[in-house]
Order: sequence, then C-alpha cells, then structure tokens
Amino acid sequence: MSALRFTPVIQSLPASVPFVGPEIQERAKGRPYRARLGANENVFGPSPKAIRAMQDAAPEIWKYGDSASHDLKTALAAHLGVGVENLMIGAGIDGLLNSLARLLVEPGTPVVTSAGAYPTFNYHVNGYGGEIEAVPFREDHEDPLALLDRAHEVKAPLLYFCNPDNPMGSWHRADVVQGMIDTLTEQTVLCLDEAYLEFAPENTAPPIDVSRPNVIRMRTFSKAYGMAGARVGYAIGHADLIGAFNKVRNHFGMNRAAQAGALAALQDQDYLARTIANVAGARDRIAQIATENGLTPLPSATNFVTIDCGEGPEFAKAVVKALDDLDIFIRMPFVAPQNRCIRISAGRPEDLALLQTALPTALHNAREALT
Ligand SMILES: Cc1ncc(COP(=O)(O)O)c(C=O)c1O
Repeated sequence: MSALRFTPVIQSLPASVPFVGPEIQERAKGRPYRARLGANENVFGPSPKAIRAMQDAAPEIWKYGDSASHDLKTALAAHLGVGVENLMIGAGIDGLLNSLARLLVEPGTPVVTSAGAYPTFNYHVNGYGGEIEAVPFREDHEDPLALLDRAHEVKAPLLYFCNPDNPMGSWHRADVVQGMIDTLTEQTVLCLDEAYLEFAPENTAPPIDVSRPNVIRMRTFSKAYGMAGARVGYAIGHADLIGAFNKVRNHFGMNRAAQAGALAALQDQDYLARTIANVAGARDRIAQIATENGLTPLPSATNFVTIDCGEGPEFAKAVVKALDDLDIFIRMPFVAPQNRCIRISAGRPEDLALLQTALPTALHNAREALT
C-alpha cells in the first residue's frame, strides 16, 4: 500500500492515458512504422518559412517564451478580426482543454460530450472529477439537438462539440452550429473544437461572435499548419471567459521557437492553401483505395478518412492490427457503432502507395485471424 496521499479523484482514475502514442507502439514492436497515418498529423509539414523562424529562434531558446504570446496573439487577432483580449494561446487545444476543464469542473460536475468523441477532452474532465454525460452519435454525426437537450437536463456547465468531428470526419453546416449557439442556456459553456476547420467546406463555421459570454472556440496549428509537435493552439471567446484562463493556465508553458514558428506559419497563407489542396487530394486517394478493396469511405471535412469496414468492431480491430503488422500505423474509433470503422490520416503519395499495397494483404490477414 502506497503512503502517497493522492486526492480521491486521482485515486479513482485508471492509470491510463487518453490513447497510446505511435512512438510507444514502435518501441513495443521494435521497429519504426513505414507510414504514419494514425494520429491525424499533417505529413505535408509546416511552411518552410515556419521552419526557418523556428531555426532562427533556436539560439535564443535559453529564454522563456513570452508568457503573453504577444506577437502571435496580435497577428491572430488581426487575422480573425477580434481583440487580443478575445484570444488565449496554449500548448495545443489539448493544453487549453485542460485549463477550460479546470475553470468549470469540480468533483461531480456533469459535462456533456458525444460518445466516442475526442478522448483527451474526457481525460481532462475526469482529471478534475467531472462526470461525463455521453450522447450517442446519430448516423455518424455528432447530434447537436441531443447534446443541447442533455446539457439542459443535467444543467451542465460545459458542453463539448467538435465540428468537423474526430473520429468520423463528419461535419455540420454553419447554420446548425449557429442554431446550437442561439439555443444554448446561459449556464452552459459551449466548447466548439474546430481543430480541423481549415480542411472543411466554406460554410462549416458560423461567424465568430465574441460578445457571447458562453461560447469558446478552439483552433490549432497542429493540423492544417502541420505543426503538431510544436504544440500551439488558441481559444477564441468573450474577454471574461478568456481572461479567466489567466487564473489557471501554465503561463510559461509555451515554447518560444514554437511561438515564432506559428507566427510565420500564419503569415504564409499561400502555403496553407497548398497544404489544404494536398490533403484534399490525399483524401480522394484514400477513398479510392478503400473502394477498390470493397470498403466504404465516409465523407470527410478533415485531414483523415474514416472507412466503414462493413462488419463489426472485431473486424475493424483486426484490420488495424494487420496493417500494424505491415508497419502501417492507423487508428479506429473507440465506441460502437463507430468502431465498425478504421480511420486513416491523409498521407503523401509515397505513404498512400504503401497503404495501397498493404491493404489487400491486411484485409486478407484480418479475415484469416478471425476464422
Ligand atoms: C478534435 C481534436 N481536438 C484537438 C486535437 C489536438 O489538438 P492540439 O494538437 O492542438 O492539442 C485533436 C488531435 O487529434 C483533435 O482531433
């Protein structure tokens, strides 16, 4: 018996992480992946200008980062047409979700999300003792009305909604999201996770309105800007809600090279447009490979394609495992009925050529393994 006096919340938690990272899987396998298509990273990488900015910042890395992220925040404010007081920079959306949960969740607080949505959100809520109220997906989409109803019913101070969604890649139109915002009660903060927004069709995001006290939108440099390892995300919201982050956030948690890189990436919108085109091409290619193998790719507004394998979770799991055995890293949704699918991130032509060669063998091996 340990003498350590962990809090009751910590004692109640499983000794787990939201999901296992590919490096851990590589070490367990004893060899690297040939194609890394599981973590929704952006293999096309950051703008060369962002790389240069990070290289230029390296000699100054002995300094802490600017705790206000002033330059990046000022540029983002101009880009988005909001005030600097409406923006909070954090170590990825993941870091910002932690602060948001800390602001709104205490032991027993009900928090509403979709069953099988992005698990890092739940991880943070659980870490503060919150009670997850999970609402099922509806036809592979998050269900805005059911989420709102549940939030009203349990008087949740926090409702998480991801648009476009991970893991299904599905999305709702801007007017649907605006409808959610308009019918939200004052007691609930809507956290609108827009990690994949840049990949989505034009009319996916409602206009930003920072006069709403209870809406916070989360965006990131990890996906379209290709900088997941730099850990830069931002939250957009009312100045009071954004200001509250200063009570709990890790003020010196930003890496100064990453701050410089994100600023340069933001300033290279031409590169961003090329990446978005590359990702769209990769999505089409993944869909084609899936179809050629008798599987059903689902429509995607993200940098990944979720593929219905047409059978139950055991088969999807076997396909993930069979591709893993062939050193192709992909993932799959955790929860039924989404877990009949596999999820493949956009790759370069060379990554997708490997996928194309491996998938028929993997499907064969998965079927063999289950007989
Ligand atoms: C829905 C969603 N939100 C947030 C993140 C993480 O974003 P960040 O890298 O900014 O922490 C991911 C990453 O996969 C995601 O899928």
